[in-house]
Amino acid sequence: MAEKILIVDDDLDSLKLIGLMLQRHGYEVVAANSGTQALAKASNDHPNLIILDVMMPDMDGYEVCRRLRANNDTRPIPIIMFTAKTLVDDKVAGFEAGADDYLTKPTHPAELASRVKSVLARSGAPPKKAEPQRGGTIGVIGAKGGVGTTTVALNVAAAFTSKSEKPIIADFRLGAGSLGLFLGVSQSYGMGNVLSKPAADIRASAIEPELVNHQSGMRALLSSIRSKEALINFSHDAAAAVVKTLRTLGNPSVFDLGSGLNTITTRLHREMDQLIVVVEPNPAALLMARDMLQEIEPPGSKTGRIHIVVVNRVQSSVQTPWHEIEQALGHELRSIIPAAHDQVFQAARAGTPLVTSQPGIPISTQIAKLTDELHTRLKAMVPNEA
Ligand SMILES: Nc1ncnc2c1ncn2[C@@H]1O[C@H](COP(=O)(O)OP(=O)(O)OP(=O)(O)O)[C@@H](O)[C@H]1O
Ligand SMILES: [Mg+2]
Repeated sequence: MAEKILIVDDDLDSLKLIGLMLQRHGYEVVAANSGTQALAKASNDHPNLIILDVMMPDMDGYEVCRRLRANNDTRPIPIIMFTAKTLVDDKVAGFEAGADDYLTKPTHPAELASRVKSVLARSGAPPKKAEPQRGGTIGVIGAKGGVGTTTVALNVAAAFTSKSEKPIIADFRLGAGSLGLFLGVSQSYGMGNVLSKPAADIRASAIEPELVNHQSGMRALLSSIRSKEALINFSHDAAAAVVKTLRTLGNPSVFDLGSGLNTITTRLHREMDQLIVVVEPNPAALLMARDMLQEIEPPGSKTGRIHIVVVNRVQSSVQTPWHEIEQALGHELRSIIPAAHDQVFQAARAGTPLVTSQPGIPISTQIAKLTDELHTRLKAMVPNEA
């Protein structure tokens, strides 16, 4: 039986939108457009979860929350507060009023789904029935060149093999395909061959023969380091067709998008369900990252799909503190990858990702944690969802 979710918002458009998203995930939806109506429906309709807007004219969300908690019938129902505000104070007020979690508006469907799912799971509601599988897309983009983008992409893809998924990694950097080198594959024209085709011809049958099976368990669509390959003139549509097709072949597919935004990556990042932004902890890289983040996700639109990863490529006794980096970026950090110069070097020579050859070292455990998070978020998404 579908779980019932009560959505409370005075804004009808917002009610409709959220309702639709949740229905697509198989939930039954009940709506209320005022605090008073919410209290009535909460006791009469017995929802499994309440999603509550904070700013409503008759009674604000905090008050609704307090009253729900004060009533024996409605006390156990988990509550997610929905707010346009992102201030810490508001979150605190929400939690104090008794909310279980909060979401900021506008919300990415994936984030909504994953919060709803995890709050329901914690409240002991029966799990939803399994959804049909499809592969998600993960983009990896560097704030600037040489910050460790390819190393992160490669290890995240490899870490998915231990989740018995079928990851594919793809390298869009024609003529600069260091990914192939890191995997010990020197002849690797797969991506160039595919992108030389017209977009309409880029289908699974065109891509599959170009995939390299790597010993780590992943498959790879590689670029070469032959500089002439960089001259291949491919269209945005061809690049988008590669992403679209790999989505159906890999679970997930991970894309090395290189560094900085260009016309291709500006188009491609939108196709990514999850986006890892790789940053170096120095002032120039942080400024570039900040600017890029504003292009990718304007401030305030917290979709939850961005994962900022700082790679410390050099061991140093002076490290920029976590919160200073967050302040400089105006964005939360997901992970800090420690320096491991010798190990990274040896792994590249051996053509084996570090997470598979040396799973116990700090850099590998950080990547594994990041991968867990990505895995959870992708799992919360359903087929054909933007
Ligand atoms: N955690 C780390 N510790 C030490 N060295 C690292 C680390 N991660 C990556 N490196 C090294 O830094 C260099 C750049 O890494 P990588 O190629 O992954 O970066 P990139 O951003 O993809 O570079 P490019 O812009 O050239 O594609 C490589 O020599 C790599 O071995
Ligand atoms: Mg690279």
